Amino acid sequence: MEIFVVPTASATGSVAAGILAAVIRSKPDAVLGLATGGSPLPIYKALAGHSVDMSSVSGLALDEYVGLPAGHSQSYAEVVRREVTERLQLDPAKVAVPDGSAADPERAAAEYDSAIAAAGGIDVQILGIGHNGHLAFNEPGSALDSRTRVEVLTERTREANARYFSTPEEVPLRCITQGLGTIMEAGHLLLVVNGADKAGILAAALNGPVTAACPASILQRHPHVTVVADEAAASLLASGSGQVAVRVEGAAAGV
Ligand code: PGA
Repeated sequence: MEIFVVPTASATGSVAAGILAAVIRSKPDAVLGLATGGSPLPIYKALAGHSVDMSSVSGLALDEYVGLPAGHSQSYAEVVRREVTERLQLDPAKVAVPDGSAADPERAAAEYDSAIAAAGGIDVQILGIGHNGHLAFNEPGSALDSRTRVEVLTERTREANARYFSTPEEVPLRCITQGLGTIMEAGHLLLVVNGADKAGILAAALNGPVTAACPASILQRHPHVTVVADEAAASLLASGSGQVAVRVEGAAAGV
């Protein structure tokens, strides 16, 4: 595991985008795992500033709400279209999001794992971490080998995501999420974290026991993980834990 510590949230985007741009230059048809939420947004903004040909890149989203009408502005299909596909000028035919408005969401979830396999697997999976340690929408208690499936969102997650909706009640109760086992099959996991409010859970995930109580702790078992965290989020990480921690400052961090 390599950990880059950068001064600001926007710098997490610059450093993570630099990593992705290098991957796409060496593999123009790279398959990216796309995360939504606030943490990855600076990545997509920064990646748009790189002169790298994205026309052969594919994207597969991590998760989606169940039950929002198709075209709802906060559905991840729409967020991915606005923030990723259009911004990076990806081919929309190469971008997939789990079908949260399917008549049979369980089946849509199972089919999504097949779609990932059909794409040849995910080369780099972008990830955020929830305050409760969730990875994608794998809430605490999710099996560490779980597959893409329908999940019930915790109240903590619904509260955190209420900022995107007009009323908290509008936040869906369920989602389709890539499973932890699915995520672990990606070749490279790229976790971006910012803010002091994530410091405790990031330390628990990286320095604590690997446990379903903190789903992101599964990262410790993956052979290729890059963490890009701002100083506030990294402030409680154990030093001398054997992980490579690189402090990136100034122009290298895009600040
Ligand atoms: P955030 O969400 O980036 O919006 O904080 C991360 C997550 O819930 O996984």
